[in-house]
Amino acid sequence: MVDVRRGNAELLPHQLELVADRTSKIRVMQGGYRSGKTVTGVAAVIDMGFRSEGAPILAIEPTYRMVVDVFVASAMRMLDVWGLPWRYHKSDRVLTIGRGRTFDVLCRSADNPRSLEGLTVGGLLVDEWELCEREALQVAMARVSVGPCQQIVLTGTPEGYGPCYDLVLAAPKPSTRVWVVRTRANTMLRADYVADMEGRLDADEAGEKLEGQRRAKGGRVYSRFSRDVHGRNPCVGVAELQVWADFNVGKMHWVVAEVEPARQSAHIVGEFVGTNTDTARQAEEIKRYLAAYLTRTRRRHITADDVRAMRIKVFCDASGTQRTSVTPLTHVALLQQAGFEPRHGLANPLIDDRVNTVQIMLRDRRLTIDPQGAPQTCMMFERQAYVNGQPDKAGGLDAAADAVGYGCFWQFPVWRQQQAQIIPFARAL
Ligand SMILES: Nc1ncnc2c1ncn2[C@@H]1O[C@H](COP(=O)(O)OP(=O)(O)OP(=O)(O)O)[C@@H](O)[C@H]1O
Ligand SMILES: [Mg+2]
Repeated sequence: MVDVRRGNAELLPHQLELVADRTSKIRVMQGGYRSGKTVTGVAAVIDMGFRSEGAPILAIEPTYRMVVDVFVASAMRMLDVWGLPWRYHKSDRVLTIGRGRTFDVLCRSADNPRSLEGLTVGGLLVDEWELCEREALQVAMARVSVGPCQQIVLTGTPEGYGPCYDLVLAAPKPSTRVWVVRTRANTMLRADYVADMEGRLDADEAGEKLEGQRRAKGGRVYSRFSRDVHGRNPCVGVAELQVWADFNVGKMHWVVAEVEPARQSAHIVGEFVGTNTDTARQAEEIKRYLAAYLTRTRRRHITADDVRAMRIKVFCDASGTQRTSVTPLTHVALLQQAGFEPRHGLANPLIDDRVNTVQIMLRDRRLTIDPQGAPQTCMMFERQAYVNGQPDKAGGLDAAADAVGYGCFWQFPVWRQQQAQIIPFARAL
């Protein structure tokens, strides 16, 4: 604390308690939304930096975007408030803090665990640690090996009982200490924030996201989704139109999305659900659907043949290259025949990776959905729950989830980038 107070740091009581604990090896702040977790992490980084005798501190967020938008932005803001000088070297992602006696904070993202290998640091902060891949968390924790401090700080909202929870908190060591913090503990927050949020979350979610209490297994898969936050209808008609498809026998749930690759964002504008259909028929019918949609949003008449000429990308299941007993052509070949451009990887991503990618996009507000255009997809986001640790497949909600998962994962993967190469169909054979 002493060192944070060299500036004018004013910390809330729970923040002060965590920062002042210099003995616990792992300090975990499990808190509700906006409870002041990231600021606690920033204060702990500063305190650890001044105690590490020149060794750098590693600060990690789940994605590169969050490194810049969340950690670096919060650090710059708080350092200014606290009157501590800093310099940010953007190309190296290094934040140098202090006057005279300085130390470096290496700002990295967990979606690239390779970038962590070989680092030697005196302390570690992982913000939103439960949204990171377990492997990345393990690599990061092993990097803390020099200087007198060697403490680890993990901050974030509880996210059920995932792989990271298993690693750190399922059987915690005596040197691990956890603070559970409610959103209300952050007295800097505007007074009506909690009341507003309570209106948007069900009781179960409020327990986790406002009280910081971890929920029992069996919670919602897409717990980050809220109709009020993501069910918006932002301006459409300017982005790239895509289809995200899941191939199923019987029920096919295909999603239509407007995607802005540069912003890594997508807005789901519609869905096309076919029952007792096959890929060829579904592909023909969705062309008519797309023609009507484009005519409405692009303000000119567009026919199904025009859609065919546009060679719209369809992100889909990698198993679409396999023949089925029903048809001699593969799903992917049928899509090509209908004038679409199928996209998928060599093998399907793991379910966890798909879910995490979608959760991160929801967190960053990079994935939104039109509830009128895609009511079943919206319902899937709200209702799909974990059963025996796996997303529930009953009720047909998994078809929509799979389609959205492929669209997001093949383009904006959060984990294991080597798996996620997008390869055109021709090269997949
Ligand atoms: N000690 C403090 N002094 C001044 N402002 C603070 C302090 N702690 C938190 N805040 C302010 O409260 C708000 C929420 O803090 P912070 O971003 O740390 O919360 P969080 O729990 O990480 O939120 P999220 O759930 O969005 O990740 C921010 O605007 C932050 O500047
Ligand atoms: Mg935060």
